[in-house]
Amino acid sequence: MGEYNLLVNGERMRVTSLADEPLLEVLRDRLRLTGTKYGCGEGQCGACTVLLNGRAVRSCLTPVSSVGNASITTIEGLEQNGRLTPVQQAFLDEDALQCGYCTSGMIMSATSLLHAHPEPTEEQTLTLMNGNVCRCGTYPRILAAIRRAVALQKEAAR
Ligand code: FES
Ligand code: FES
Repeated sequence: MGEYNLLVNGERMRVTSLADEPLLEVLRDRLRLTGTKYGCGEGQCGACTVLLNGRAVRSCLTPVSSVGNASITTIEGLEQNGRLTPVQQAFLDEDALQCGYCTSGMIMSATSLLHAHPEPTEEQTLTLMNGNVCRCGTYPRILAAIRRAVALQKEAAR
């Protein structure tokens, strides 16, 4: 067992855990941040996606000991002072969910996409979102939400 001083959603959080414990389990079971979902546990579905220094990673495949001082952002950390991010707002506006199980992972991946490419091409969007699976098949609405998020982001920057 080791002690890890994680930076989660802007706050320092200390956890005691095995070095190879997946970040997903630490977030959900120890820190009670259950917005991040367990899907496959094998890096295949994207339900567990969080941001490490702004970049999407699969938390089920990320040992807690590998995180170090990186800034972890979960779905709980996106909204600031009651304001949703453009990606969150766009998912709501476009009704881009059905059961909602994939949604936090989708939003985290889309957030990472827009960090890297504020105006992504269709190809960049499909490449980055490709690893996120939606069993309900809401892909057309998710893509519409990403297009809307780009527009909302541009509007906010004016
Ligand atoms: S639970 Fe991590 S990719 Fe499926
Ligand atoms: S909305 Fe149900 S899995 Fe995507």
